[in-house]
Amino acid sequence: MVITGCRIRGKEGLYDVTYDNGVFTKIVVHGKEEVPKDAYRADGRMMMPPFVEPHIHLDCVLTAGIPHYNMSGTLFEGISTWHEYKTTQPLVVSEIKERAKTALRLMAEYGVQFVRTHVDVTETSFKGVEALEELKEEMKDIIEIQTVAFPQNGILSVRDGKKLMEKAMDMGVSCVGGIPHYEFSREFGIESINYIFDLAEKYDAMIDVHCDEIDDGQSRFLETMATQAWQREMGSRTVAAHTCAMGSYNDAYCSKLFRLLKESGIRFNSCPSASMHLQGRIDTYPKRRGITRIKELWDAGINIALGQDSIADPWYPIGVGNLLRVLEMGIHAGHMTGYEDLQHCLDLISINGARNLCVEEEYGIEAGKPANFILLDGKDDYEVIRYLSPVILSVHNGNTIMEKTPAVATIHF
Ligand code: FE2
Repeated sequence: MVITGCRIRGKEGLYDVTYDNGVFTKIVVHGKEEVPKDAYRADGRMMMPPFVEPHIHLDCVLTAGIPHYNMSGTLFEGISTWHEYKTTQPLVVSEIKERAKTALRLMAEYGVQFVRTHVDVTETSFKGVEALEELKEEMKDIIEIQTVAFPQNGILSVRDGKKLMEKAMDMGVSCVGGIPHYEFSREFGIESINYIFDLAEKYDAMIDVHCDEIDDGQSRFLETMATQAWQREMGSRTVAAHTCAMGSYNDAYCSKLFRLLKESGIRFNSCPSASMHLQGRIDTYPKRRGITRIKELWDAGINIALGQDSIADPWYPIGVGNLLRVLEMGIHAGHMTGYEDLQHCLDLISINGARNLCVEEEYGIEAGKPANFILLDGKDDYEVIRYLSPVILSVHNGNTIMEKTPAVATIHF
């Protein structure tokens, strides 16, 4: 198959891109060679590697309102509402898979091809783990899924919490998760982090921890995570998610912390739409934004990716799978709407996410790499974020997984 006359993100000019048997085989300057009659005409639109969703909870998606809505909008009412859901609803593998698949279809419409999902392992029937592990296998040629053993109610603060984590890892989950700021005490939080790293070493797994997802500037589990990653040289396989408390740290502490963050090599994930919705709820005024220091991490060269966290679940009532919407919120909240940032802001929902998932090897528009790409109805990052341009073609391993006809408006004046 040939895509003719496309821009390639980050390159000047137009190109003809050929892929066969799931792999990019040839990339030449447009017009240099004959193209087949059935070539896809890109008309100057931008091709780039697919969007990456680095943080979502597919076991919870599309459950908003059951058994009731989160009326306060806080993280903690979200957790208690989910607890009610999982202890009062019959959990059925096929139903969880169907909800998750519906969410994946939504995401596919917006160009997502790589997804890392958390799955609650303090839900002791393990139906969520079973469902998402099955889906990971069934969907692998369409959308690549990684799973995270997420102890929603804590590891030390739950009876047999460590056994639950180990059971999930035995079932094939890809990453070890955690929630140190939600453990009963600081000591439990620290012990949980040490355990998470031990477990990841035991299973040769990646790490992705909900860390300091709270407006409390005294929540400082990030420094323990980064120190563990530095000591064990596991930074490139470790993600600290949310780190909302960093938005409340004082600058003197933060400047000291950044030295460690850089040396540790850990990666970051922020979910600006979810965090702006959930955090700052207990503030009066001034109200905090509840997000980590996205711009400061980005400017320091520390890898940070943005994700959705939720699609219509107890924590966040809206969302349709569109990462551009998340990016738009993130760059506003993070003061990243300056000219320079707008030139490459799509990194936050593409290559940076690929680095968090450790899939950058199979990622890029280059001959010899898997034919994974999207085509956007725009010509560069600036235009795409300004117009929230739709993805009109999404190809994974050479298979077309989504096509869209761009809408045409007729203006009557
Ligand atoms: Fe999350």
